Amino acid sequence: MNTEVCAAFGIEFPLFAFSHCRDVVAAVTNAGGFGVLGAVAYTPDRLEEELRWIDDRVGGRPYGVDVLVPGRIDESAERAGRGEGGLDTMLAAVPQEHWDFLIGLFGKYDVPLPDFEKARQSNARGGTQVTKEGATELIEVSLAHPIRLIASALGTPPPIMVEKAKAAGIPVAALVGTSEHARRQVAAGVDLVIAQGGEAGGHTGEISTMVLVPEVVDTVAPVPVLAAGGIATGRQMAAALALGASGVWCGSVWLTTEEAETAPAVKAKMLAATSRDTVRSRSRTGKPARQLRSAWTDEWEGPGSPGPLGMPLQMIVAEGAMRQITKVAESGNPGARALANYFVGQCVGLMNTVKPARRVVYDMVEEFAGAVERLNAITSAD
Ligand SMILES: Cc1cc2nc3c(=O)[nH]c(=O)nc-3n(C[C@H](O)[C@H](O)[C@H](O)COP(=O)(O)O)c2cc1C
Repeated sequence: MNTEVCAAFGIEFPLFAFSHCRDVVAAVTNAGGFGVLGAVAYTPDRLEEELRWIDDRVGGRPYGVDVLVPGRIDESAERAGRGEGGLDTMLAAVPQEHWDFLIGLFGKYDVPLPDFEKARQSNARGGTQVTKEGATELIEVSLAHPIRLIASALGTPPPIMVEKAKAAGIPVAALVGTSEHARRQVAAGVDLVIAQGGEAGGHTGEISTMVLVPEVVDTVAPVPVLAAGGIATGRQMAAALALGASGVWCGSVWLTTEEAETAPAVKAKMLAATSRDTVRSRSRTGKPARQLRSAWTDEWEGPGSPGPLGMPLQMIVAEGAMRQITKVAESGNPGARALANYFVGQCVGLMNTVKPARRVVYDMVEEFAGAVERLNAITSAD
């Protein structure tokens, strides 16, 4: 295939795969697409290991890294990120009411409580990774590897990301949910815009991909745009290119691949889910993120809930709890199974079989070719 991004990134197919799983990233890159590793869950040391693992397997083929740098987060986390007050500052900012609600939830669903103190400390450390300082460390680790793209989720990339990437000759991408965001991102130095519609898994806005992509393409031209949100098939890929995108950026579709690290109980839920079974909820991170609807999302929206906190305080409350819920769900505990969920988009309804990631790439490309042929037949008909 031959779009602007194929030439710019030296890839066969304009198919970008966002994944937190290094195996998916390497598989998609090796299949002719472009794998992008989501770095948010990693400490700098662990990210270094993951990138070395990928380097050893892709034989110089192109891949990238995505760092989550939110525009605005809780002040206590900003202070902890700057080394002021340490993790305790952040932990103290979580009201007792939220811990009480969580403990009540574990009781109601008959799930054994995790070691909260341990979980709190490790979640608070995770919270510092979404501060500017934490993200800067991840950016530095990434740029020391032969990456070909660095992407910023959630908000305009900080000047330090743009400066460091440009100095290293690496293009910067950013996710946007509105054309105003896109305009701001380009003004901040972004080279590739990812227009992500509200049907996407993870943090997302409300405008659908069908409406957002042409708006963003027109707003930022001639800057190339990738379409994201709801794309899991070749027909959708053809539609995205028809809307003016230079390629597609997919996240959910990899979660049910053979390589994905998705917990088996959650993978089973995804395979059975319809496109109506997701919800945009603040219950895991504090910012609206699309995920499987489960007892967890319902309870946080329910009458007894104190309401989710902001980012990253809600992550401190939720992530250790979700780790325990996912672990217990694997043993068949019905309450844990009801609560378990993960980020995924509406295209979960199209994800019905487990395949290797490279098969997903080939199937999309084949279906894309069929769709284009059908469209050509329409215009060439007498
Ligand atoms: C499990 C999951 C985690 C995600 N985490 C991030 C993230 O850390 N950074 C980011 O830029 N995007 C993240 N996203 C969004 C993806 O980059 C991508 O834009 C989105 O998945 C595209 O829509 P789709 O899910 O319908 O394919 C995540 C998506 C999923 C499904």
